[in-house]
Amino acid sequence: MADVPVLLSGIRRVLFSQKKDRESILFSIQSSIFNFRMHHFHYIKDELYCEDVPVTTVAEKVGTPFYLYSHATLMQHFKAFDGAFSGMKHLTCFSMKSNSNMAILRLFSSLGGGVDIVSGGELYRALKAGVEPVKIVYSGVGKGVADLEYALRSGILMFNAESAQEILKLNEVAERIGKRARVAIRVNPDVDPKTHPYISTGLKENKFGIDIDEALEQYSVAASLNGLHVAGVSCHIGSQLTEVSPFLDALRKLMRLIGRLREMGISIGYLDLGGGLGITYDREDPPHPEEYARAIQSELGTSDLTLILEPGRVIVGNAGVLVTRVLYTKPTKEKMFFVVDAAMNDLMRPSLYNSYHAIQPVKVSGREKVMADIVGPICESGDFLAKGREVERFDPGDLMSVMSAGAYGFSMSSTYNSRPKICEVMVKGDRFYIIRERERFEDLIRGEAIPDFLKEGQEARQGGLG
Ligand code: LLP
Repeated sequence: MADVPVLLSGIRRVLFSQKKDRESILFSIQSSIFNFRMHHFHYIKDELYCEDVPVTTVAEKVGTPFYLYSHATLMQHFKAFDGAFSGMKHLTCFSMKSNSNMAILRLFSSLGGGVDIVSGGELYRALKAGVEPVKIVYSGVGKGVADLEYALRSGILMFNAESAQEILKLNEVAERIGKRARVAIRVNPDVDPKTHPYISTGLKENKFGIDIDEALEQYSVAASLNGLHVAGVSCHIGSQLTEVSPFLDALRKLMRLIGRLREMGISIGYLDLGGGLGITYDREDPPHPEEYARAIQSELGTSDLTLILEPGRVIVGNAGVLVTRVLYTKPTKEKMFFVVDAAMNDLMRPSLYNSYHAIQPVKVSGREKVMADIVGPICESGDFLAKGREVERFDPGDLMSVMSAGAYGFSMSSTYNSRPKICEVMVKGDRFYIIRERERFEDLIRGEAIPDFLKEGQEARQGGLG
């Protein structure tokens, strides 16, 4: 399961561990062995399994394409991340935009987690899944009045306000309904996260947060308003970060701000550092959550702040795959195309960010390797899951697994080309559970209506065609 270097580093960590109690030693071994590059998708006799279930068995039952998640991986990743901060007062708020399936939210909430939300819809899902309102933080540059009111009435922990106008709007809503909103200002610290430009959020040029130089002024406004209680400082600088240093640069700026606020008599209880820790899709080598947590702790020192973390990808990214079936193989003079039944509407990341997802056969055939594009049935050349990839030659009917698809996979999917949303399955041990049914054609037209004037040929009559 674990490779040798990982095992060795686990043993080393135990030997040099400062903490001597049995539980911390066990955790240390476990978190080293269950490194984030580790997951429960593995081959037994050339056949891909998720935990103890052959992927083919799931495909036969639910059809293709589908998302497949490993319960053990989800749990280990959550525990390893949350456990890395066990020496600090903290709350892990899973960033549910990365995966908002209720079964997954319930799992993390049963492990003590909260969520980071960005819409009323996410709040609704979280509450339905059983997440405690006092463990919910709400970010987003465009929170509407109805959503602000819904979150206030639900009693969430904190609003991360992203503009001067939002601060005033939140106060207005809170006063109108007789509540007090706990608020943090989401600060834009102007730090380069060194990631894809679409997912950088902490640079001055980005739409997010309030410029750190204007934050003091906005804090004094917020502190003077009766509907608000200033509770924290927050930031989120970007996603898929593979180095610790940008996080630390942002943290230092935030700590200076907190110091200034204290001098002004504004005391801060929560420090929300957002999410953003990256994962290995291909050859990236992001820091392990323990390294990330250690770096943050050494920067914070003995602070009495409660840390809020909003990890998404690092928890779910490698805990899920997209399983698809090859429909056709299409050799052209230029290249080989494998046309599969999943498409950009099911997994948008390759088309949108040109992102890499490893492609693995569900049954290793031993056929020769070919260079190929893996493409879907959608009518756009941008519809691909992988380009110029060396893979074992697939035949029509073969199953293929698109790896590391647990984060921003299903949650970003759409019904473009009128393709119903696909189903999601969770494996636990030797059993599997459908955690979201495949949509049917009827679902595609739910809510649509043809106005009377278009019915029964009226249009033709009124339009004077005859
Ligand atoms: N907190 C806030 C306020 C965020 O905006 C995000 C992600 C997170 C936390 C979680 O970040 P994570 O730990 O997952 O990196 N669709 C893109 C990623 C967009 C991320 C948006 N914000 C992708 O597929 O790569």
